[in-house]
Amino acid sequence: MSAGRSLRLGVLGSGKGSNLSAIFHAIRERQLPAEVRIVVSDVAEAGILEIARAQGVRAEYVPPGDNFRARLSPESEERIVELLRESGVDLVVLAGFMRIVGAPLLAAFPRRIINIHPSLLPRHRGLHAWRQALEAGDSTAGCTVHYVDAGVDTGEIIAQSEVEVLPDDTAESLHARIQVAEHALYPEVIAGLARDRSFAE
Ligand code: GRF
Repeated sequence: MSAGRSLRLGVLGSGKGSNLSAIFHAIRERQLPAEVRIVVSDVAEAGILEIARAQGVRAEYVPPGDNFRARLSPESEERIVELLRESGVDLVVLAGFMRIVGAPLLAAFPRRIINIHPSLLPRHRGLHAWRQALEAGDSTAGCTVHYVDAGVDTGEIIAQSEVEVLPDDTAESLHARIQVAEHALYPEVIAGLARDRSFAE
């Protein structure tokens, strides 16, 4: 990375985009030397696309393809790779992206795709991890940022943040507390990677 160049992010998400908002906030506050180049969603009406547009950032909907359920069709995934490449992305940031990443993305961005998951991995992989924590009777929950590999929430852990589970917690209240932790942790971890010059060579 040449001196001073900020890390170029490509963000993939399917939902409301509160983690993307936290990333934009950290960039504005100069806590994160990065630039969001493009945001891609597999959901046409996802809030995350609106958040990107409001910041003047390119926002693209890529239809996921039929009959692939938890995955994108190979064509859709190739299209996303193309968009990320033409945007000069150094690091792919999954922020509520509800698809399992497959071979095209993993091959195009080896060890350059990260995800945030709402549990203290390796506990509670998969969907509704905060509910899994409640049902298991855990006294702590939290979130994890990890590299993405071919599995579901199995990649190498980069950082975690713990939150307390309170006796009167509902799934909603616990999820909300975990999201507050996510909004602090994700920008912090990306800032750490941005300082690692090898990421933007
Ligand atoms: C977060 O809770 C994250 O852990 C999970 O999906 C949710 C995304 O939320 N992977 P948002 O769209 O960033 O608000």
